[in-house]
Amino acid sequence: MADAANEGRLMTVPRFVAAKAEGRRLVMLTAYDALWAGLFDQAGVDAILVGDTVGMVVQGHDTTLPVTLDEMIYHAKMVVRGTRNALVVVDMPFMSFQVSPEQAITNAGRILKETGASAVKLEGGEYQAETIRALSRADIPVIAHVGMKPQSIRMLGGMSRIQRDEERLRIDARSAEEAGAFAVVLELIPRGIADEITQELSIPTIGIGAGGGCDGQVLVNQDMLGLGNGFNPKFLKRYADLRSQVLEAVSHYAEDVRTGAFPGEEHSHD
Ligand code: KIV
Repeated sequence: MADAANEGRLMTVPRFVAAKAEGRRLVMLTAYDALWAGLFDQAGVDAILVGDTVGMVVQGHDTTLPVTLDEMIYHAKMVVRGTRNALVVVDMPFMSFQVSPEQAITNAGRILKETGASAVKLEGGEYQAETIRALSRADIPVIAHVGMKPQSIRMLGGMSRIQRDEERLRIDARSAEEAGAFAVVLELIPRGIADEITQELSIPTIGIGAGGGCDGQVLVNQDMLGLGNGFNPKFLKRYADLRSQVLEAVSHYAEDVRTGAFPGEEHSHD
């Protein structure tokens, strides 16, 4: 992956952490295969998250719960193959770490060994502190994910619930840092609380629906590229409308095939 020529641009966990003190905002985007990872890497994102959102935006599930460890490893391998410089972080899927710290080390170890990714992310703060500590002590870099945790959907009753319990959010973020997490994702929390947590922590906060005061931002690529089907939360900014472009291009192709306009002479061999 890394060679001497691009070593200066290679994102590592220490460089990612140092960005906070250096005042550099961190850019993270999800990807699930080599094609898109390669594009995002070329565009200069700092980190690529192989999110368990793959279950929803690629596999067609309603939640992230069905995603398996083997599926995450399959996608992460592709992402690592397509990435030269960005830090690749892989989500630990539902029930791959909740059982015990030992289970988490075994599964996170598989992720790092089999995919070549640099770090894992898991949902939880205070209640996962023991596991975060165990992973860090096993030299497995870990990002914690607090606020709205999609794997808690059965407890929350829905995915887009803004988390407003200030005390809980502070304790979770603080516990994650104390346990050794090198960054914390803050999902769907009021920006005032996100700002305060960001100021309090010495590790970077990466926000999604947590306002502009975080040390970095993460989005699901299908959402920001306009590929999603009607998902339009307040926090989302669309940077492209690829869904319309794909529909138009494929409809045009279908029409050309049906009318005989494609292939033309210029596309045919003599
Ligand atoms: O799975 C995922 O894509 C995520 C982001 C929404 C942060 O956890």
